[in-house]
Amino acid sequence: MSFRSLLKKFPNEKDLASRPRPYFNHSVEMKKIFTAEERADILQKVGLNVFFFPSEMITGCDLLSDSGVTTMTNEQWAALHVGDEAYGSNRGYFLLRDQIRTTFGDHFFNEPGKEAPNAFLFHQGRASEDALFTQIGGFGSELVIPSNGHFDTTGANIEANGMTALNLFADDLSSNSANHFKGNMNVERLRSLLAESADRVPLVYLTVTNNTAGGQPVSMANIKEVAEVAHGYGIPLFFDACRFAENAWFIQNHEAKYKGKEIDAIVREMFGSVDGFTISYKKDGLVNMGGGLFIRNDGLFSKKYPGVAERILDYQILKEGHPTYGGLSGRDIMALAVGLKLVTKGEYLAHRISQVREFGEGMRRAGIPIITPTGGHAVYVDVNKFFEGTDMKPDDFGGVSLCAVLLGAYGHRACELGYFTFGRYDRERKLEVVPEVNFVRFAVPRLRYEREDLDAVVQAMKALHDNKDVIPGVRVAYGRELSLRHFKARFEFK
Ligand SMILES: Cc1ncc(COP(=O)(O)O)c(C=O)c1O
Repeated sequence: MSFRSLLKKFPNEKDLASRPRPYFNHSVEMKKIFTAEERADILQKVGLNVFFFPSEMITGCDLLSDSGVTTMTNEQWAALHVGDEAYGSNRGYFLLRDQIRTTFGDHFFNEPGKEAPNAFLFHQGRASEDALFTQIGGFGSELVIPSNGHFDTTGANIEANGMTALNLFADDLSSNSANHFKGNMNVERLRSLLAESADRVPLVYLTVTNNTAGGQPVSMANIKEVAEVAHGYGIPLFFDACRFAENAWFIQNHEAKYKGKEIDAIVREMFGSVDGFTISYKKDGLVNMGGGLFIRNDGLFSKKYPGVAERILDYQILKEGHPTYGGLSGRDIMALAVGLKLVTKGEYLAHRISQVREFGEGMRRAGIPIITPTGGHAVYVDVNKFFEGTDMKPDDFGGVSLCAVLLGAYGHRACELGYFTFGRYDRERKLEVVPEVNFVRFAVPRLRYEREDLDAVVQAMKALHDNKDVIPGVRVAYGRELSLRHFKARFEFK
């Protein structure tokens, strides 16, 4: 009997309940051990703001962000060693240029010296956002940039450049509808905005996946529809492309037309609809630092704003460095070229998304209210539902309190993305203006944790949920009126 025919007598390895990860640990770091009392003392000292809690004291999972916290592969570490730190045209620059063309399409990286500049490397995402918005902000007044959900720094960069950041969320995120694309833009709201005031909209933004809206993906149908509406008014469309590969996986697996289509092809089709994009490579670049701004060479943006690319180039040289490294070290560029190649691999993405989904399933089974279906990079707990039946009020900032207690009691760090982060204090009316969303986000770093780590977070959250009555609200001791206040504020338990 041949071995292959023998195999047919056993269940297929793909059908077993547990499957091995598509990677193994290359090197590990031993954690230091701290007690809950020691963590609580430090939290009290840093005003319950988890951003200021020393990461070395985190005995559980650090799920504050999935940004820049990727565990790199051995190939990336090897690539770092052959990084070339030349001031001009380092070795990695050419590799990265080729990889960017392969991943996103040739039209996003012109030949320097021969064609107009259109590819700008920056040290991280927000630097590339500022480079773009500084140029557009100067074009007129009362400008509005609509999005399916601006990230906090993106919105802040838009506003810092004198424009308004507008979120056109598509779906009721708190509902348990089976809609797989809750990250979509509300196209009807976009149509009415453009019908009324297209002249005030310099460009339209789509964040893939939609971090502010629960990390939910955007469908190809929505991308194409938004592009059609925007282009109909002669308005360019840009991606905030941080999690482009994860978004492509959802399209492949949940949009009938794309079943069986390669991720690489889906990515290129997605980017075929946009006139440019900003990106933080700290997510789907699989690196710890890096960002960029890319403009389609034959797109609407370059036609509508001639000369802007040259000004962005000057900005880049003034603020970051020569265009061939643009704020990144040669070794970082090498690691990025390798990371971009890996991130669209089917086996990597399938594991990544299923790890986040199983984490969410664990939370749901434990009775924790989360946004379902789970998105690509994080599990979002619905704070209002979590505290249902208790006395927690909006200006008690239950999400801030939950994060502090979780870190103190169980050593896991999560991030409030809700009434405190996205809200603001109205000094005249002396009250808090609360946003549409109120979440605590548990962002899963790429290639870093194993299932038992995330199971421990679920158990900790269950223990807190079972005792939610005794979680106090917080008073803002410092920073209520500051911009970007969640990064800076200090709190006390009420
Ligand atoms: C959707 C989105 N856009 C932009 C950014 C900003 O990127 P960076 O942190 O590299 O500045 C982030 C960061 O988390 C993000 O999630």
